[in-house]
Amino acid sequence: MHSLEQLRDDALREIESARDEKALNAVRVHYLGRNGSISAWGEQMKTLEKDERPIIGKLLNEVRNAVTAAIEERAEKLRSEKESEALTKIDITLPGTPSERGSLHPLTQILDRSITVFRRMGFALADGPDIETEWHCFDALNTPPEHPARNEQDTFYLPDGRLLRTHTSTVQIRAMQATSPPIRVIAPGAAYRRDEIDATHSAQFHQIEGLYVDENVSVADLKGALEFFFHELLGADTAVRFRPHYFPFTEPSFEIDVQSKALKGGEQWIEVAGSGMVHPAVFEQLNKARGDDAYDPEKWTGYAFGLGMDRRVRS
Ligand code: PHE
Repeated sequence: MHSLEQLRDDALREIESARDEKALNAVRVHYLGRNGSISAWGEQMKTLEKDERPIIGKLLNEVRNAVTAAIEERAEKLRSEKESEALTKIDITLPGTPSERGSLHPLTQILDRSITVFRRMGFALADGPDIETEWHCFDALNTPPEHPARNEQDTFYLPDGRLLRTHTSTVQIRAMQATSPPIRVIAPGAAYRRDEIDATHSAQFHQIEGLYVDENVSVADLKGALEFFFHELLGADTAVRFRPHYFPFTEPSFEIDVQSKALKGGEQWIEVAGSGMVHPAVFEQLNKARGDDAYDPEKWTGYAFGLGMDRRVRS
């Protein structure tokens, strides 16, 4: 066998046994590199007899081509081996990476929880429109025409004289128009005021209105119900304080503050609601509107409250 053929067989054997890219590259340099054995043969050609040159030259070309092709083939094989090895490391039976899910808005969460607590106390859900009449928002709630809350600076009025309700107390009126006592409802919803928008004020905010009218309803019932509510919502260690206040549609009236670890602001008292005993003038307005005596102030008493929901949210 010609030593060139010997060289080719050696090269092919080494190529076949190269275990990785690095080993294969070493083989390539050894045979085909600038100082490699096959290249050295090219140099030697010059020293050959004239008639020998074409024969050896042809053989040399064949050897070079065979070795080059074998290296390429081997490289390709090593690449695909590496790839399929990497693939076998993937456990396709594992669960996939979960994609992040959204969640309910904090306001929705607190609203849902609040409603659940009130329902347990026997409150039914009521609602009314966001666009209201002045009568439902003010007159029926014993709020006289000159009252500052009716001012255009505080209330969004529509050109037709209607308005965006400034509180959910409108639903007290709508519920009592539609239902004779006893009545026990809550009404969650949005309210609107022309407030400067900042971290704690927004032109749109959310309230839960509550109304309970029956025989012999007292301030004690109001206190008991709302204390229970806040303890359920914010924890039993929540302190609840009733501060005398004024609302045209309740008498007596209270603002309610809570102090709770569950709220941002920790040890601070935070004002969370307005409340009071339904003013007899409200019952009288309703009787007039209904054309009956269903809400006889001598027979029925009731409490009402309006919880501001937006500040309940811990952020
Ligand atoms: N509507 C009052 C407000 O928005 C709150 C309130 C509701 C007060 C019911 C008393 C009774 O400030």
